[in-house]
Amino acid sequence: MPLQWNRELETGIRELDVQQQELFAKFELFSAAIELEHGHKQVEEFFHYLDHYAQEHFKYEEDMQERSKFPERAEHVTAHRRFVEELEAFKAGLRSGRDAQEIALAVKATMIRWIISHSKHMDRAFNDYLLAASEKAKGQLISKKLGEILVNSQIVSAVTVERALVK
Ligand SMILES: [Fe+2]
Repeated sequence: MPLQWNRELETGIRELDVQQQELFAKFELFSAAIELEHGHKQVEEFFHYLDHYAQEHFKYEEDMQERSKFPERAEHVTAHRRFVEELEAFKAGLRSGRDAQEIALAVKATMIRWIISHSKHMDRAFNDYLLAASEKAKGQLISKKLGEILVNSQIVSAVTVERALVK
């Protein structure tokens, strides 16, 4: 069964959501290419994309964690660094002539593990922290009416508003 981005993963922070949706879309294309055993070229392209993802997404997230004084930022950054190290090891394997299809399958397993352990849990923890901090800063939860205005004007997502509504 393919791994798909869903609302459960939505952070309400547009830039992060777009980056994560792109990761899932690229991973799906990569997985399809593996099934067809397209090999070397697809693996290289996916590595190229993951380099970009690691640079852009991790930096963006880490900057936000630093600015918001997220208490678990040190271990979050360590998880990002470990992912980059794993990626570097795969790239070195490809350069040294290891079978591309074999590497592709190992990358796929790593990505599934990454999405489940990191995107669904560690990134989620940061999102919950941000949400709690912003509610605290506002000093009050928002009303349904204000929630509708925020969603309609596309300032924040429906999921974020739903969580911030006065129950
Ligand atoms: Fe992260």
